[in-house]
Amino acid sequence: MKDTTGVLILAAGKGTRMSSPRPKALQTLLGDTMLALVLEEAAKLPGLAGIWTLVGHQADLVRAEAERAAAALPEPAPQTFCIEQKQQLGTGHALMTALPEMTAHADFDRLLVLNVDVPLIPAQLLSRFLREEKESDLAFLSLSLSDPGAYGRVVRDAGGRVRAIVEAKDYDPALYGSCPNEINAGIYLIRRKTAETLLPLLSNNNRSGEYYITDLIGLAVERTLDVRATPVSSEDGGKALLGVNTPLELADAEALLRQRRVRELLEAGVVLHSPESIRVSPLARVEAGAELAGPCEISGRSLIRCGTVIESHCVIRNAVIGENCRVRSFCHIEDAAVEARCQVGPYARLRPGAVLEEDAHMGNFVEMKKARLGKGSKANHLTYLGDADIGPGVNIGAGTITCNYDGVHKHRTVIGGGSFIGSNTALVAPVELGKNTLVGAGSVITRNVEDGELAVARSRQVNLPRKK
Ligand code: UD1
Ligand code: CA
Repeated sequence: MKDTTGVLILAAGKGTRMSSPRPKALQTLLGDTMLALVLEEAAKLPGLAGIWTLVGHQADLVRAEAERAAAALPEPAPQTFCIEQKQQLGTGHALMTALPEMTAHADFDRLLVLNVDVPLIPAQLLSRFLREEKESDLAFLSLSLSDPGAYGRVVRDAGGRVRAIVEAKDYDPALYGSCPNEINAGIYLIRRKTAETLLPLLSNNNRSGEYYITDLIGLAVERTLDVRATPVSSEDGGKALLGVNTPLELADAEALLRQRRVRELLEAGVVLHSPESIRVSPLARVEAGAELAGPCEISGRSLIRCGTVIESHCVIRNAVIGENCRVRSFCHIEDAAVEARCQVGPYARLRPGAVLEEDAHMGNFVEMKKARLGKGSKANHLTYLGDADIGPGVNIGAGTITCNYDGVHKHRTVIGGGSFIGSNTALVAPVELGKNTLVGAGSVITRNVEDGELAVARSRQVNLPRKK
């Protein structure tokens, strides 16, 4: 067997305490789901045989997000899989369900189990845990809290050796002594053989009637295996182990993550105005020399290049904004690309598939979808460009609309370089305009226009004497 690690992300639970119809794994922090955040950090670990996500409650939704997030991982990415836990009978049952499927797919000798609802865990902490606990049979991260709340408690013997993890609701001081402040963070490294030996011994004889993964600790101790709690000190990232079970914990975790990202950006040389209202997901990258003003939200696989200024009140998701652009206030940019030196907004909307080539200008109340605005072209006012291919040096007049939808199908509009589209023009797709065309204002263009032609498609003005 190879010396590799299989990662299992437990994401099958319902998240009852969140009181939301949305599965807990899909709750978001800074615009990205807990599942995407945990997957992102896990994928950075060295020597992985694969990452498996266990889905169950609303399995289709969670699987779709796992697949979407896995496809967006930066290369080289580990293999990723989903496994379904049809009934959610507890975290121990989760592992019983997953392990045989995992071992059928890949060869690994250690299993790293992550709870999807511990979303702030950084890869550095995980990789240190993997390194330090390489030789133990079963290890888990622990943390001392002044208020240990509903977390599982770490019970140690007089000599300080770990005896068991006991869930808060099952804790009986008569059996275990006064309740300790050391808690289980929900992150485990288990030798595969140990898991295979101990899992069949789990029972659901507890307050919840569930199979607890945490009972493996007591079982391993009884068999004198090498069991270790790895304490993480608070300043060392205790906050990174926060569990998210309620809306309050989600808000706390999001606030911590936001501050962490703001600090990272400032330290990396990004200028931030009103940093207290800037929200940048861990998945998004902002280069040194970029400038952001809050409030704003930048999430998904976004990249903001050097020299670019993002003014306040912008929402940017899965979008690349090239060097030396200015995105003015109140822009909404999603699944789109803006090349170098563009001017965007205020109040512009780039929907999926929108591309602004270098030096293009897109002004107020302009919307683009699956459309390309060529190098140096301008669409400055009140315009909709959908399913359109617009060449370089084109001027799109105010109020231009590509009529791309006939009620059943979408059609394309093509406009050649150097063209000038007069204001309030409707371009009824499919339609092609050649290079250097000129369209009179107020036209409804339904037929193709050849290179260099002038097209006027409106009724001629009639001036009559005014009736008294
Ligand atoms: C769990 C631990 C607790 C620890 C805490 C840390 C157990 C029994 N307790 O408690 O010791 O302090 O995490 O945050 O493990 N899940 C499944 N399938 C199931 C049940 C749960 O995939 O059948 C998943 C959930 O989606 C969640 C994770 O397992 O991501 C943990 O479950 P949860 O119910 O949140 O456990 P806690 O009560 O928080
Ligand atoms: Ca939890």
